Amino acid sequence: MGEIFYRCKVCGNIVALIKTGGGTLTCCGQEMEKLVANTVDASKEKHVPAVSVDNNIIKVEVGSVLHPMVPEHYIEWIALVADDKIEIKYLKPGMEPKAEFEYNFSYDEEKVPYTDGDGEIPNCEGQPCNFVYTEKKANNVSIYEYCNLHGLWKTEIK
Ligand SMILES: [Fe+2]
Repeated sequence: MGEIFYRCKVCGNIVALIKTGGGTLTCCGQEMEKLVANTVDASKEKHVPAVSVDNNIIKVEVGSVLHPMVPEHYIEWIALVADDKIEIKYLKPGMEPKAEFEYNFSYDEEKVPYTDGDGEIPNCEGQPCNFVYTEKKANNVSIYEYCNLHGLWKTEIK
């Protein structure tokens, strides 16, 4: 899924496009602005979500240096956006700029012949150790956050 967040330059409405139809989103009589992550000139350390994955738990901190959470300047929300799921957690001033998401990663598994440089090893004492599995995370999982002053930022989970 590409960028899905849009903002009205007049009233400040922010919407998430949950299915692409193709039309133009308008608000207050004009076209909404598509928010493109990581394009505002501001501290990357304080805005790019720092993400750690432990099995099916995704822990997020904004950012590698924690962002302020005061009424004039704070992280309004943190969102998980994947091909199969959108989840948004709202924050308030005074809270920590952190969130946790549960996500069941899916994997593409592929059998690849194991070689030691001299060619394929046919077997390993009867055990099925002559193949390794390569696993790929599917579903394009990204973590977004929105700063009231510095806009939209994201980290893709590989
Ligand atoms: Fe900020």
